[in-house]
Amino acid sequence: MADIAVIIVAAGRGLRAGGGEPKQYRLLDGAPVLAHTLRAFAAHPLIGRILTVIHPDDRPLYDAIHDTIEATATLLPAVAGGDTRQMSVRAGLEALATEPPDYILIHDAARPFVTADLIERAVGAARLYGAAVPGIPMADTVKVVDSQGKVRATPDRASLYAVQTPQAFHYTSLQAAHAKANEQGIDGLTDDAAIAEWSGMAVQVFEGDTGNMKLTRAEDIEAADRRMRARHGYTVRLDYTVRLGTGYDVHAFADGDHIWLGGVRIDHTRGILAHSDGDVVLHALTDAVLGALADGDIGSHFPPSDPQWKGASSDRFLIHALDLLRARGGVLDHLDATVICETPKIGPHREAIRARIADICGLPLDAVSIKATTSERLGFTGRQEGIAAQAAATIRLPL
Ligand code: CTP
Ligand code: MG
Repeated sequence: MADIAVIIVAAGRGLRAGGGEPKQYRLLDGAPVLAHTLRAFAAHPLIGRILTVIHPDDRPLYDAIHDTIEATATLLPAVAGGDTRQMSVRAGLEALATEPPDYILIHDAARPFVTADLIERAVGAARLYGAAVPGIPMADTVKVVDSQGKVRATPDRASLYAVQTPQAFHYTSLQAAHAKANEQGIDGLTDDAAIAEWSGMAVQVFEGDTGNMKLTRAEDIEAADRRMRARHGYTVRLDYTVRLGTGYDVHAFADGDHIWLGGVRIDHTRGILAHSDGDVVLHALTDAVLGALADGDIGSHFPPSDPQWKGASSDRFLIHALDLLRARGGVLDHLDATVICETPKIGPHREAIRARIADICGLPLDAVSIKATTSERLGFTGRQEGIAAQAAATIRLPL
């Protein structure tokens, strides 16, 4: 089978999209543009290797994405790009030179809607023609306009195509073309076909995809976010059922100088009377996940009579419940807990607790909520005899 590699160029600064992080790191349906782009190639059966070209300043952003991609293809270590797209592509081609693939696809990180079909067409065209680009016949009439805004010519629309990526080439030919352009000081050509043409290669157009637009301006990113969300919603409706589980836990205060809440140690004038570490937040959350699974409760999974749970750190309970969820092919979407006590004050610890729970569960921080209330001095919490927590967990299970 032919060895096919992909270079994803992601080293641009996205100036036309304005504000915030470069566009390839902005979120579409909760995941960065580049993550969507990478996933399309990473899971494609025809793709052997993927090389991403990044801006050196973006390395931490890239590393965070890299860890979230499940790939059948090999994700090669990212390399640094250059000041122009052409230089970034060249950096990618050079990085592959020690182990050259047969064919190379070059794709813009800023085109996250690339489909498996389009990738397949690109590979097919590379094999047939050695140099090929996806194109779409122009729908609008195009004018050649001078710097004064005067129309100079109206090319025949039937011969005009808008071209996209992935552009597909015989690797050694494209690498030679780029090297030659570099030697002759030619830079700033905005696609690889232009370099191939300049070096005298015949470039074939194959059928592009109108959905495969490049995100260029801020409004493109907003529209793409809506489109990704719609796609996501469709999957949820068809493949998953959404479930909500609740949990509740109480522990009595005892002598001591600290308590555990949400996996965080908090100094306090009292301790907790408990078999484990007495973390009411993690216990309530564990029960909420078990409740969503309709799979018993914390007592049935971790009987207090079993000595192995004595003094146990409660994150183990929650991790076990999440293992049960994963074993059923489910995903955790959101956790919400309320702590009920007069003291300690939860506000100063809220962010640490959220971060710890997000870390235990592998959730983004914005999917973990911690709230607190007193009970207006009423009842056992009001008399400061104990502390309580209630929780909700939202999960998705395959149908
Ligand atoms: N690109 C690159 N290196 C550069 C310039 C661009 O890798 N020096 C990449 C971009 O990250 C993008 C693709 O090439 O995925 C297409 O370029 P473009 O849409 O022009 O992106 P930017 O250059 O980032 O945007 P702008 O021109 O608005 O600054
Ligand atoms: Mg650019």
